[in-house]
Amino acid sequence: ARTAAVIPAAGRGVRLGPGAPKALRALNGTPMLIHAVRAMAASRAVSLVVVVAPPDGAAEVKSLLDAHALPERTDFLVVPGGESRQESVRLGLEALPPGHDIVLVHDAARPLVPVDTVDAVIEAVRDGAPAVVPALPLADTVKEVEPTAEPGTPEPVVATPERARLRAVQTPQGFDRAILVRAHETVTGEVTDDASMVERLGAPVVVVPGHEEAFKVTRPLDLVLAEAVLARRRL
Ligand code: CTP
Ligand code: MG
Repeated sequence: ARTAAVIPAAGRGVRLGPGAPKALRALNGTPMLIHAVRAMAASRAVSLVVVVAPPDGAAEVKSLLDAHALPERTDFLVVPGGESRQESVRLGLEALPPGHDIVLVHDAARPLVPVDTVDAVIEAVRDGAPAVVPALPLADTVKEVEPTAEPGTPEPVVATPERARLRAVQTPQGFDRAILVRAHETVTGEVTDDASMVERLGAPVVVVPGHEEAFKVTRPLDLVLAEAVLARRRL
């Protein structure tokens, strides 16, 4: 089965601070989005990459991709994104041509995911799992709180889930295409990842080992870490 990767890259990157849209910010001189596209194209199974660009930045993203060589086996498409990540992924799925039965959804904000992680996700979908997410155990203990209206005021703790049973979820998440499309057509309400939409359909979702280098570039310190990882790779 052929695999396509949808890369939501339409976010502003508010938590990263002022500047260009997050996916277009440079890491060691190359836009984050290009690193993310290369990370998907590094898998021999991936024959198409659909980039979901900032709504007013599709032309710029198209010329960026034209300027950075991908493997010959990899095609790409660029479509404009939406207001939410969820909407951006849906727009990417709608642009997918027939013939790709496995779909990866990968955040442009996770530019450094190793190819072994990508391949492990694809492999688990090929082995029959309709939805596969890479994830890592947590270092921090997690508390559920009752959020207060005033930022900075103490929040009452409601519960402490057993840390050993928790996983921090990354991307690429891999799916049987038909199930992911159905999830995006039918599930309403806010979600923070694609697998949770498939969970709401009642379909099984499994976790495979993620990777430290698949962390999401969210805040300014993450840029420092990402550039350090790139520098270490060049050793
Ligand atoms: N994303 C998207 N369309 C949106 C919002 C987010 O395609 N309307 C993408 C981002 O570009 C990113 C991924 O979803 O690759 C994960 O989202 P996040 O890390 O939250 O990025 P931003 O939403 O851009 O950042 P912030 O929440 O800090 O504004
Ligand atoms: Mg966001």
